[in-house]
Amino acid sequence: MDRSAFSGPAIGLITALTLAATAATAASPFGGLFSAASKAPAAPAAPSLIPQPVSITPAQGAFVLASGAHILVPPNDPQARWIAQYLSDMLKRTRGIELKIGEENGEVTGPAIHLTRGPDAPVGDEAYRLAAAPAGVTVLAANDAGLFYGAVTLLQLATESDGHAGSIPLPALTIDDAPRYPWRGLLLDSVRHFQSPEFVKKLIDDMAVHKLNVLHWHLTDDQGWRLEIKKYPRLTEVGAWRVPAGEAALQDIDPATKKPRLYGGFYTQDQVKDIVAYAAQRHVTIVPEIDMPGHATAAIVAYPWLASTPHPPTAVPSDWGVYPNLYNPDTPTIGFLQDVLTEVIALFPSTYIHVGGDEAVKTQWSAAPTIQAQVQALGLKNDDELQSWMTGRLDAWLDAHGRRLVGWDDILKGGLTPHATVMSWQGPAGAAAAAAQDHDAILAVDPTLYLDHRQNPAPDQPPGRGSLLTLKDIDAFDPAPASLTDEQRGHILGVEGAVWTEHIRTEPRVEFMTFPRTAAIAEIGWSPPGSTETLLARMPAEMARLRDLGVNAADSAFEPLLTSDFDPKTGTVAVTLATESGQGEIRYTTDGAEPTPRSQRYDAPFAVRLPSRVRAATFAGAEPLSHAIERRFDADTVRSRDSHELKTCSGKLDLSLEDDAPVNGPRAVFLVDIQNPCWIYPGAELDGVGAIDAAVGQVPYNFVGAGLGPEVVKFRSPATPEGELEVRLDTCEGPRIAVLPLKPAAANLAVTALPPVAIAPVAGKHDLCFTFTQHALDPLWVIKTINLLPAKAQSRGLGGLFGAGPK
Ligand code: ACM
Repeated sequence: MDRSAFSGPAIGLITALTLAATAATAASPFGGLFSAASKAPAAPAAPSLIPQPVSITPAQGAFVLASGAHILVPPNDPQARWIAQYLSDMLKRTRGIELKIGEENGEVTGPAIHLTRGPDAPVGDEAYRLAAAPAGVTVLAANDAGLFYGAVTLLQLATESDGHAGSIPLPALTIDDAPRYPWRGLLLDSVRHFQSPEFVKKLIDDMAVHKLNVLHWHLTDDQGWRLEIKKYPRLTEVGAWRVPAGEAALQDIDPATKKPRLYGGFYTQDQVKDIVAYAAQRHVTIVPEIDMPGHATAAIVAYPWLASTPHPPTAVPSDWGVYPNLYNPDTPTIGFLQDVLTEVIALFPSTYIHVGGDEAVKTQWSAAPTIQAQVQALGLKNDDELQSWMTGRLDAWLDAHGRRLVGWDDILKGGLTPHATVMSWQGPAGAAAAAAQDHDAILAVDPTLYLDHRQNPAPDQPPGRGSLLTLKDIDAFDPAPASLTDEQRGHILGVEGAVWTEHIRTEPRVEFMTFPRTAAIAEIGWSPPGSTETLLARMPAEMARLRDLGVNAADSAFEPLLTSDFDPKTGTVAVTLATESGQGEIRYTTDGAEPTPRSQRYDAPFAVRLPSRVRAATFAGAEPLSHAIERRFDADTVRSRDSHELKTCSGKLDLSLEDDAPVNGPRAVFLVDIQNPCWIYPGAELDGVGAIDAAVGQVPYNFVGAGLGPEVVKFRSPATPEGELEVRLDTCEGPRIAVLPLKPAAANLAVTALPPVAIAPVAGKHDLCFTFTQHALDPLWVIKTINLLPAKAQSRGLGGLFGAGPK
């Protein structure tokens, strides 16, 4: 196989991209983090396939794919016929091309797509060869998975641009391909927020077209139990339902019960069987996770005898974080867990069954005399060893039933059980430690593979963990670092992206956070090391493909990021545009027109006079890469900043947090550090400023665990019962230049525009520090917008404070 078939053009492309990034960094307002996308993207010389195949050998000519062409399968081969039908359905759905399916019986003689098996097929469970020539396309594989992945590659070749097409020329080439790792996973957290069975199936579809093959389904946790277990009906009758956090949910009374409306849901066993079968057809294995001994509150609320404490909680909680509620390691509870696993293994044919094991803080075990007596009686050193002992019971049980236990890397602490596979989330060290002990490992590391992080700093991003995680960050991740020996590398089963959903409330947002970053996860899981550098150049085709598939993919890598600098002396605003990835060309208008591929190309910061309206979007040639952003500048708004355009004072635990109100309809999103709620408006131009106003919200402080809560988060004392927003000059210890009382906002659970307060004249540029005074932590006051008003300005009210809402 010739891995260097495209090395010439590819190196040229990388050089071009590097040069573009270097040139742009100097002008970047984001301190070199983001690049002005002023360079036309070089079209990749090879097809834009994701994940990048092992080798692509180009040839002359093209196979013209058009309606009426045949897909031919071996006679009496129902699996090949299923794959042919899948390919045909997907091509019809995405490109409007209708193919016919037939058997290789000599009747069809013209150009066709052949799905074939044979002794000369490439070796490997998932390997395939795809050869396209003017006379036909052949996908050759030894087994079903390889044939399926060959069909997926063919589908990708046909969907490099979007929209319906009469015919599509597929370039003549030969692709030889096989995955780097057998485990290419995605974790879906269906506990913190619930997704419908239909959505889970769509996600499986979208995983399959990226050659991802493991859906790690997080089905149980503190905040919910989502899997029907026939022997223990209260797990879902009680454990699947909670009152969401915050006052807004408490006021949302369900007329049927006269109590606050419950949030939740669960999957019936029939639904699970349907989803598992659907996934299996697409070569996706579902690995269920039943978390233990921690992250168990919902089950303990349903069956209090599972608890390790005499006073277990009585309602399924809605706070995020780490709870102390652990299953009791006694015989009845282990019997319960084995009963649950009995039903789990009947539903999920996966060899691997995930039993969690993470974040099991042992305060309840330490405080329980019976449990401490158990530690003594078993001759164990400590509670971590007790966790390992408990995991060991389940490891042996799973082994006896022909399955294998997977646990988070926390299970290393008390000693690995004999058959455990380790899923490393606390950095790659856990995987290395497991491999050194001759155990297999999967990398699902936080933050690099945790897809609940924001993708860019724009105010219109949906909520998520505050620190950014970009395509490039994932692409740069090496699952098998040089520190491992070759033998240890052999223990790395693969990689997994984790879609934790504390902050991902809706299904469209799950898609937004999952795609296109999943393309990078697919790439590090499938493609040969060192072959992924062109990922960004392949993204325009990926984005077109995702549009065709109806995926609400994030355009965050390409969205224009606007920063502005107002000069009161000239009355002009310097506007800087950049994108997170540096890909594509930013085009903009200042006359209110929608930006098009023919609009003015952004090359360098430009100035506009007040009032002005700047609109900008990013393109790859004629193809849109982003939605259009818009910013209006006038005397009243030119110095407005959304919380996402401010800096948090210490950036310890930044969240882009969604409001709890209104219960229905769009909610504001605030950037806030939940350990230190304090914001800086850097370099605020104060010349001519006569007043400050702010839009503020109040959110539930629903976070538990170490480093959180009233012992950690401190406030200055309020002067009025409702508290105040205080503004200080230069530093957070500097002179207080304004105090905005919160009384007008106290009764509003959503966002309130506080009336402006006058400030004494200050010349020049200064940092401003914003903090709230409050007596108690909950609810937490947060900033939506800060606005510096010209002298004698009136309040603007709320209008225009919300940007385009999150998707
Ligand atoms: C985890 O993030 N606690 C696995």
